[in-house]
Amino acid sequence: MAYLLLTFFFLCLVPNTYSYGHAYTCRSYCGNLTIDYPFALQQGCGHHGYRDLLFCINNVLMLHISSGSYRVVDIDYAYRSLTLDEPHMSTCTSIMLGKQGNGFVVERWREPYLSPMVDNVFMLLHCKAESPLFQGFSGKHLPCRNVAGMGCDEYYGCPAWSLIGTGSAYGSGPPQCCATAYESIKDVNLTRLDCQGYSSAYNMAPLRLAGPDKWSYGIRVKYSVQGNDTLFCKACEATGGSCGYHVNDFSSLCMCGSWNSTSNCDSVPSASQRRRSWSFMVTGMDP
Ligand SMILES: *[C@@H]1O[C@H](CO)[C@@H](O)[C@H](O)[C@H]1NC(C)=O
Ligand SMILES: *[C@@H]1O[C@H](CO)[C@@H](O)[C@H](O)[C@H]1NC(C)=O
Ligand SMILES: *[C@@H]1O[C@H](CO)[C@@H](O)[C@H](O)[C@H]1NC(C)=O
Ligand SMILES: *[C@@H]1O[C@H](CO)[C@@H](O)[C@H](O)[C@H]1NC(C)=O
Repeated sequence: MAYLLLTFFFLCLVPNTYSYGHAYTCRSYCGNLTIDYPFALQQGCGHHGYRDLLFCINNVLMLHISSGSYRVVDIDYAYRSLTLDEPHMSTCTSIMLGKQGNGFVVERWREPYLSPMVDNVFMLLHCKAESPLFQGFSGKHLPCRNVAGMGCDEYYGCPAWSLIGTGSAYGSGPPQCCATAYESIKDVNLTRLDCQGYSSAYNMAPLRLAGPDKWSYGIRVKYSVQGNDTLFCKACEATGGSCGYHVNDFSSLCMCGSWNSTSNCDSVPSASQRRRSWSFMVTGMDP
């Protein structure tokens, strides 16, 4: 009950704190995460490259792309990155085989806006010898390499591997684990790559010597917005607007409360825009 009251108190408090100007029309929250430009939970808010991407379900922020749903653990607006997690990803304490994992595949049109970071390692587990991973490379297992100091040899040191066994490293057959970066293989599609499972890790520690039990397991994804879209949004927010897009043609919009601008809220609304919001108000007042 106390918790409910507290939540209610915050729900009342938060919008009031930000009620000056219109800059916060689109900002929202999910659990303890702030959803801000270029992301949004509402249609027409944020940048169109991130439309239909985030969903807040029972205060848990979920990201949805072609390969499936992921929990958003963190959004780092300073580093322009998202940290994702999903239950079927292997970690240092559990190896999940059976092709249940999502991997990471993003819609083609969304690729310029969202992709795993260069220092995020994907470790593909129990891939078939016929896997495209091992085809078309002259050397042995060429796409398999360490990424930012993280690789399978280190990963084999995790307790979970003592249960499965790593096989003989120099025997015949494909390696039990192949570490690689997203750029080397693009889509991490377990079906296409013919792998049984995967893990993904990134290293937040300043030193790269920490063992695999110190790596962070999850997918670190960078997001990028075109330079002039960022400028457009800065100008819009500086004039008290909220950045959004037109739901029909995805052109950038600056939402200025009662009207939408194609530049910023200091620009004079065109006659047609004024008429539209006026007639909207009149219809709104009809009994
Ligand atoms: C947000 O909440 C989650 C658990 O719900 C917690 O693990 C995380 O540390 C919190 N993050 C911040 C920045 O408070
Ligand atoms: C402004 O644009 C948003 C997003 O497309 C839309 O939801 C809203 O209705 C528009 N407002 C006006 C006054 O046209
Ligand atoms: C993964 O690859 C399979 C086989 O090539 C394909 O049918 C499937 O659509 C792909 N999945 C995604 C999410 O792209
Ligand atoms: C962004 O750049 C493109 C191409 O350079 C241009 O057509 C467009 O008008 C620019 N948008 C803004 C808001 O400046």
